[in-house]
Amino acid sequence: MEPNQEQEVISMPRIGDKAPEFKAVTTQGEMNFPADYKGSWVILFSHPADFTPVCTSEFMTFATLEKKFNEAGCQLVGLSIDGLYSHIAWLRTIKEKIEYKGMKDVEVTFPLIEDITMNVAKKYGMVMPGESSTKAVRAVFVIDPKGIIRTIIYYPLSLGRNFDELYRVVLALKTADEFNIATPADWRPGDDVIISPAGSCGSAKDRMDGKEEGLECKDWFFCTKKLDKDTVMKKILTK
Ligand code: BEZ
Repeated sequence: MEPNQEQEVISMPRIGDKAPEFKAVTTQGEMNFPADYKGSWVILFSHPADFTPVCTSEFMTFATLEKKFNEAGCQLVGLSIDGLYSHIAWLRTIKEKIEYKGMKDVEVTFPLIEDITMNVAKKYGMVMPGESSTKAVRAVFVIDPKGIIRTIIYYPLSLGRNFDELYRVVLALKTADEFNIATPADWRPGDDVIISPAGSCGSAKDRMDGKEEGLECKDWFFCTKKLDKDTVMKKILTK
């Protein structure tokens, strides 16, 4: 069916796509995305609205962890379908009035995009009709230094994100790139990593015969190796 005026086409980027480009106004000035972030990892994340409790808890948590993400070579960029003055007022309120779980006087220094026109939210498929037609769900896009989308996670409006998991995602993606490995369930730096499955019957046999040094094979298709935490962190931390 051809789209008509009532049926608006909302694009949904996918893992491996180039991050859709946009220019926007933010709480830290104008932004040309992803060009301004070339050479850095970025987490672009949306939230439903300013002055809402779950979002406030998320912003305080993310702002508190920003240095840790930056040290892993990752910048943070937020977005909601609100105007710049609302953003500014909300961030001032957070700093001046809100105390939560030991966090207080929290200054949000990463940019928060004004998206009252929904230009960016539509490009990134951040609005889900099942949740709301005017509020962005809690979308997370992890974008690599070449501007490629590497991870997408969506949460509904009612569910605050787990920021330890987002940090783990950044570390795991960078480790997979640096060491040409994959990371198993619940992987954390220092845990064993997974090597590519055997690509031939000969290699499968060699692995099962223990001829490939340093591997521990549960079966021919499932082999792990040690990768110590210091080696990982030295490669992926920028500071
Ligand atoms: C919140 O961030 O608290 C929230 C936003 C939209 C709907 C429900 C909760």
